[in-house]
Amino acid sequence: MFKGLLDNMQIDPQHFEDLLKPMTSEKFFSEYWEKKPLLLQNRDVQGYQNLLTLKDLENLLFTHVVQPGRATPWVRFVNNKKMLNVDDYVEAKSGLFNRTKVINGFKEGNTLALYRLEDRFEPLKRLCQTWEDLFGHPCATEVFLTPPRSQGFRAHFDQFNIFILQAEGEKLWKIYDIYEPFPLVANDMPYNGELPEPLYEVVVKPGDLLYLPRGYVHETVATDKYSLHVSLAVNIFTWLDLMHEILKSVPEFRKALPIGSLFLEDSDQLDTSCFEQVDDAFKDFTKVEDAFKLIKNRFAKLKKYEAQESLDSALEEPSLTIETILKKREGIFCSLSSTEEEAKLAFAEEEITGPNFIEPALQYIMDTTQFSVKNIPNTLTDSGKITLVKSLIKSGLLVIEN
Ligand SMILES: [Fe+2]
Repeated sequence: MFKGLLDNMQIDPQHFEDLLKPMTSEKFFSEYWEKKPLLLQNRDVQGYQNLLTLKDLENLLFTHVVQPGRATPWVRFVNNKKMLNVDDYVEAKSGLFNRTKVINGFKEGNTLALYRLEDRFEPLKRLCQTWEDLFGHPCATEVFLTPPRSQGFRAHFDQFNIFILQAEGEKLWKIYDIYEPFPLVANDMPYNGELPEPLYEVVVKPGDLLYLPRGYVHETVATDKYSLHVSLAVNIFTWLDLMHEILKSVPEFRKALPIGSLFLEDSDQLDTSCFEQVDDAFKDFTKVEDAFKLIKNRFAKLKKYEAQESLDSALEEPSLTIETILKKREGIFCSLSSTEEEAKLAFAEEEITGPNFIEPALQYIMDTTQFSVKNIPNTLTDSGKITLVKSLIKSGLLVIEN
């Protein structure tokens, strides 16, 4: 594992290039990304104070409704590798945490895990947004607070690539060899018996960065200090996602397996003549292009972007002229597709569909950060441009530049 050392450097985690110093991003992507772990140390004694502090976490924890019982709770407590019941720490009436119970839980060694805190905390949302702009894969955070001398989760591997940003305190990480290359599903019990010898044992301190590709088994071990870290997960789209969409477009592959075929002794008794169409499907440009667009649309829906405007701007109808300057909301990702009849622009949870002749206008808007209404291509009349822009403001893609 590479260990980079750089003393007293201010790290801005929003800028990936900065975060990797003294390594270059070219070196990272060619040698480490999805290949092997990386540890960068001794870079900023202040840790990631502009990202998350213990005080931020305290404010978040005690002012947000916990909503116990939700399918994917945003708060979990773990103690000595066992998951605890979050409901036991919540006031039934308000849905808020009982401060005394939570604090006593920490004294008893509870580890706190917060999932998708970017939905509730702007600096983490911005972090996800800027990293998604670079990676072109969806990102999400998990935040872990562990009291001294306590152990949280058991050894496991994840299905996403993770970047550990140590904010406060320290943690001892044991990293074991890769269990399964490029796993699609996480596993928290990869070994039946004893764990093998770890490949690395490292103490991660404030300002450090630890990168773990998916598949590497890891666990954390208690030290005498508490630990607060942000884990940024890059949830990748894979070749398999693209291939799945291509194959789905062939009706033959959507047919049921022949009746009783699973009772056959061996797969060589199966009629697999439809497999001959696989090659054709992957060589069909239209099918590949359509599948590619579907994956892009999925990313556009997941992509984090600049927060919505303030309430007062929503209460007034925007006054628009042909001279009005507009800009695209920061971080938003658009995907454009068209047929002979219609053009469709997908972004966030929205889709704008119109007749095919608006495609050049949509393409221009997609490719341009800032523009005036009059510069939109003239396949639309001036009033057509204003109508289109109004609907794009309403759906959250564009904002008026003051
Ligand atoms: Fe993990």
